[in-house]
Amino acid sequence: MSTTEPQQDSSILIFGASGDLTARKLMPALFQLSRDRFLSPRCPIVGIARREKSDEEFRNEMHDAVRQFSRADGITEEQWETFAKRVFYIQCDITSRADFPAFKRRLEQLESAAGVEPNRIAYMATSPELFLPAMEAMAQVGMMPPRDEAERLRVVFEKPFGTDLDSARRLTKHLSRLLVEQQIYRIDHYLGKETVQNILLFRCGNAIFEPLLNRNHVDHVQITMAEDQGMERGRGAMYDESGAMRDVMQNHLLQLLCLVAMEPPALFLANDIRDEKLKVLQALRPGSNGSIDDWVLRGQYREGISHGKPAKAYREEDRVAPDSKTETYVSMHVGIDNWRWAGVPFYLRTGKRLPVRVTEIAVQFKHPPLNLFTTVECDGDMCEMVEAQPNTLIFRIQPRESISLRVSTKRPGMQYQIHPVTMDFAYETSFSFELPEAYERLLLDVLRGDSTLFTRSDELEAAWRFVTPILEHWEQSPLDPAFYPAGSWGPVESDRLLERDSRRWRKPNPMHGSTK
Ligand code: BG6
Repeated sequence: MSTTEPQQDSSILIFGASGDLTARKLMPALFQLSRDRFLSPRCPIVGIARREKSDEEFRNEMHDAVRQFSRADGITEEQWETFAKRVFYIQCDITSRADFPAFKRRLEQLESAAGVEPNRIAYMATSPELFLPAMEAMAQVGMMPPRDEAERLRVVFEKPFGTDLDSARRLTKHLSRLLVEQQIYRIDHYLGKETVQNILLFRCGNAIFEPLLNRNHVDHVQITMAEDQGMERGRGAMYDESGAMRDVMQNHLLQLLCLVAMEPPALFLANDIRDEKLKVLQALRPGSNGSIDDWVLRGQYREGISHGKPAKAYREEDRVAPDSKTETYVSMHVGIDNWRWAGVPFYLRTGKRLPVRVTEIAVQFKHPPLNLFTTVECDGDMCEMVEAQPNTLIFRIQPRESISLRVSTKRPGMQYQIHPVTMDFAYETSFSFELPEAYERLLLDVLRGDSTLFTRSDELEAAWRFVTPILEHWEQSPLDPAFYPAGSWGPVESDRLLERDSRRWRKPNPMHGSTK
């Protein structure tokens, strides 16, 4: 990873400044970076959107947003004022080329008043249809630097970057006429999470685990991203167009899979890491030889009880089609056809309205070859034989971020009784400071020009190449998704995906770190 200092004087342009992402994530992250002195005090931060608004109005809105969503406690007026005086607003409709000359003029005035060169970060927090029109309009008014000074403009694209393989390729192709790959930062905010970054460091910074992470020792891997929320804040309209596969499986979960399964890179540099992740995606295979329905399952929540309260069905959510087939749950069994992982099942699942919000990667090792120790455990009249449990290494991405290892020990006493315990590294007990938000880290990396934690176009295409046939299959299928009650762990059919291999899904408990 690059250790270069932040590029000191870049203007930060946020297209889509009226949106949820700007208020919830981007402004709070920029405020925190400014408070922690990672941002040059001079660089203007410019919100751009269609509505007419003064700088002052925009600042007031952002003040509310930062107070509500920032992780910073006790924000003082002075801290806010220091930040706010560099925040500006420019009205500009991306779909109207006529707006861009005035936009450019105002931006240049702001930059010259701040005494900064036109080095710019443009953050596309807009819907994806606007990515290309915005870049074309900027090119038309001469805002694209010459190729040998390409670094003067870096553009961050929010997901979704395409909706399938063809559309992602088309977007890459069209953008490549205007921008070179080093200027493009495709954001996957999961890669900015502290615990996700720790996966590689844990694997490659310790000598004892890496030799075990392969087909000789690992029985299977489970990757879970469970969310308890449904379609709050009118998300239904957007979600109904995408579904869980496009929303999180194609990006966040496959990225987690890459990080746990990739070969250690020769150098800890952006392209070396991304080369290794790409190889994992290229080696990805269906988990069975049967039809798609044999190894991938889509589900949708119906009414149920979530955290003790009645929760409506997905089809009854605001701005969701009443006969929608959009999946709010996906589970799949995949394999990685390479020397390290051939034959090891990877089970991935994600869903909305599951009982808890928890994300983890659990690497389950093989059973000990002999059962030397068995214990009889009794609960009232019911007794059962307990044998050594397989060791499990768990990366708890959130909440109660931790890494833990489940091992068997002797229960103290006069007999050899086996008892499972957990060796735990928990962030909250090992470090006294709060973890940075993913967007803070990622925005800082864009300022530094470090693209390690961003997705390269070939990685993205490889992920789309894998999931597009599944999406096409679902589009053509007359069948409904498998239904599950809101607040449950997903459709029963998903359990069968593992039961036929004599395995079970874990039921991670967010209250217990990664131990259970
Ligand atoms: C986003 C998805 O990328 O990630 C959302 O679009 C999802 O649907 C969110 O809720 C989850 O992110 P986090 O950081 O809360 O796990």
